[in-house]
Amino acid sequence: MMKNPNTKKRTVAFVCRECGGESIRWSGQCPHCRAWNTLEELQVSPSQRSPAPAPRVVPITEVELEAEPRLVLAWDELNRVLGGGVVRGSLVLLGGEPGVGKSTLLMHLAAQAGGKVLYASGEESAQQVGMRARRLGVSDPRLLLLAETDLERVMAAIEAEAPAIAIVDSIQTVSDPALEAGPGSVTQVRQASSRLMRAAKESGVSIFVVGHVTKEGAIAGPRLLEHMVDTVLYLEGERSQEFRVLRAAKNRFGSTEEIGIFTMTDSGMEEVSDPSRALLGDLREVPGTAVLATLEGTRPLLVELQSLVSPTPFGLPRRSATGIDLNRLHMIVAVLEKRGRLSLGASDVFVNVAGGIRVQEPAADLGLALAIAGNLRERALPPGTVVVGELGLAGEVRRVGGIERRLQEAARRGFRQAIVPRGAAAPSGLRTLPVADLAEAMAAAFGEGAR
Ligand SMILES: Nc1ncnc2c1ncn2[C@@H]1O[C@H](COP(=O)(O)OP(=O)(O)O)[C@@H](O)[C@H]1O
Ligand SMILES: [Mg+2]
Repeated sequence: MMKNPNTKKRTVAFVCRECGGESIRWSGQCPHCRAWNTLEELQVSPSQRSPAPAPRVVPITEVELEAEPRLVLAWDELNRVLGGGVVRGSLVLLGGEPGVGKSTLLMHLAAQAGGKVLYASGEESAQQVGMRARRLGVSDPRLLLLAETDLERVMAAIEAEAPAIAIVDSIQTVSDPALEAGPGSVTQVRQASSRLMRAAKESGVSIFVVGHVTKEGAIAGPRLLEHMVDTVLYLEGERSQEFRVLRAAKNRFGSTEEIGIFTMTDSGMEEVSDPSRALLGDLREVPGTAVLATLEGTRPLLVELQSLVSPTPFGLPRRSATGIDLNRLHMIVAVLEKRGRLSLGASDVFVNVAGGIRVQEPAADLGLALAIAGNLRERALPPGTVVVGELGLAGEVRRVGGIERRLQEAARRGFRQAIVPRGAAAPSGLRTLPVADLAEAMAAAFGEGAR
């Protein structure tokens, strides 16, 4: 005899607002992610359901496979990150720091839906949202505004209007008045997410929710929400910089490898369909810069890497990386010292990816190493050169994936030669300089005799 699952009800009492981990009792430190003072009491309403009749099950061979119906937007930069458009009935979380452009991006998205969109804002008044729409040049009577913080009323509007897309800006500002917990609490955020998820699945409305991420004092961490939604997108970028990158951290309907690139101006955002051209701008070939042929998802991207090596004024040498993982920089510096015989122990090393883009793949290693070496030695790479390759701890240059696509992009952009791992075939118009290790790469880059 099977136990009725309803008789033994497990009640979760506390949830970590950082990682979403659940605990039976309160403690000062989350037992899951070890963050301090992040556990919050969760209000659980007891289940009042009686045992359900056995549901009908389907053999896997008889499941009807229809492609997810998708709403294809005007901007391919958005479609790509979403996995080919907005999936009907999906719940998408858009996270990002305040001011990065979440509301702006969703307003552009709303304008591209080609149908009814409900924009529920708990952050701003209808007036403010309306002013933004005007500034962005969005005027479509099918875009409906609702300034509301009451979750019940937002749900009711979604049901009554049955839009193609509903936007809830932000999840931290809507709350269910039936619950005692305040807006932005774990209880409210979970409640809102699960209600919206159910509404999306039942009605087929695609719902986008905004979630604020702050470095300090996050109200309810995005990771809490991550496992409650279909897709998690993050909008990144420095407010002072022009570029914004949209990344998928989770996607039930597509790859998480793809990114979308946008620029932010006074009149709103624009998609950047040719990011290499936008990112490279006018290149100056000075000692310390290198152009990397990177790959973001399926898309090749040429980015300029800048480095500065300067004597450490006092104390420990500094290593600082913007757009590059700091651990990776430490490793490259160590390899340069040990295998390249460069002396960096008394120098500060700064590296920066131009345009505010992040480069996360090891294929950037060799370009990084050559930029640093070039700055230290005051030698510029030959004009029209791109660099690609992973660097091993022994100083060996390793092959990377997608080399053809990277080099084709470089050739298309008018680069004439590429320093690459051995075995890479060159597309027409581009000369390759295959190198096996750091010493050969330095020789190829700066014309020094290889040891
Ligand atoms: N009145 C304005 N004129 C020009 N740019 C503005 C104006 N208001 C906001 N912005 C731009 O939009 C950005 C805020 O975008 P927004 O979509 O509101 O961000 P988020 O929703 O992520 O907090 C600002 O950083 C600024 O660059
Ligand atoms: Mg906003």
